Amino acid sequence: MKLSGKVAIVTGTSPNIGGGIAGGLAAEGALVACVDVAGDNARQCAEWITGRGGEALAVACDVTDETQVEAMVARVREAWGGVDVLVNNAGVLGGLGVLDMPLDRWNRQLAVNLTGTFLCTRHVARLMVERGTRGSIIVIGSTAGHQGQAGNIGYCTSKSGLLNFVRAAAMDLARHGIRVNSLTPTATDTQEGVERAVAWGRPRPERPGRTLDFQGMIPMGRLPSPRHYASAAVFLASDDAEMITGLDLRVDAGAVAKYWPWVPQA
Ligand SMILES: NC(=O)c1ccc[n+]([C@@H]2O[C@H](COP(=O)([O-])OP(=O)(O)OC[C@H]3O[C@@H](n4cnc5c(N)ncnc54)[C@H](O)[C@@H]3O)[C@@H](O)[C@H]2O)c1
Repeated sequence: MKLSGKVAIVTGTSPNIGGGIAGGLAAEGALVACVDVAGDNARQCAEWITGRGGEALAVACDVTDETQVEAMVARVREAWGGVDVLVNNAGVLGGLGVLDMPLDRWNRQLAVNLTGTFLCTRHVARLMVERGTRGSIIVIGSTAGHQGQAGNIGYCTSKSGLLNFVRAAAMDLARHGIRVNSLTPTATDTQEGVERAVAWGRPRPERPGRTLDFQGMIPMGRLPSPRHYASAAVFLASDDAEMITGLDLRVDAGAVAKYWPWVPQA
């Protein structure tokens, strides 16, 4: 096990990507705090992990509220003493284009995606510094942070901002032995998240139809699933990545590397 006895916090533990990453860290021996503004996502993810023999804790927390973030980190410290790994995964997806995006929606999206990551990183890193923990902080980005997607101004802006947040935070924390990296997912196969939701006792969600032909455009011919992000997160969290900081690890089946007019499956 690569993370035996390590304490990890994962934010945004829906049955989709956050749940997959939390489960992947737990399968490698980490004790996982499942953190979500939606109490059910925190609780059901923690119950799912403990039901599979792992150790987990559920914490309801809005990552945009500094008081709640401080209380969340204090709760994990009280339970397990410290924190070794933070995965900033909570996010608000989707949106509108620059002509139509309402200011309140823009503000909320940037607050969750950027400020939430800042606050969780700040308070977890302070605890790591205090305890001398050579920890690993992971930020979940998106290929939409590397490319200009129409109709998604707040998401693209916030995910792009996270790429340089990671580099700057990596510089701030390097002398403390704390590594900060991002992991870039892309349009994700929905099957695994659907099956996890059902395993958590939820009604089978409808698989959303997609307007773009992701499958036909992706170089590797199939979309990644949360488990692919989980194994990359395990790597970044583990000592295998001990000299890696300020990196963006893309788990995107080649999406960002692609020459834009090439249609791989044509
Ligand atoms: N699904 C994709 O195709 C895809 C692609 C690229 C990147 N991503 C990124 O992966 C991450 C997870 O995406 P997902 O598809 O699992 O989305 P999701 O909507 O299923 O999960 C997001 C979670 O974040 C939680 N959350 C939202 N606001 C919060 C807040 N203020 N405080 C605490 N928790 C909050 C939600 O309750 C939810 O559980 C996001 O950062 C997203 O941008 C997703």
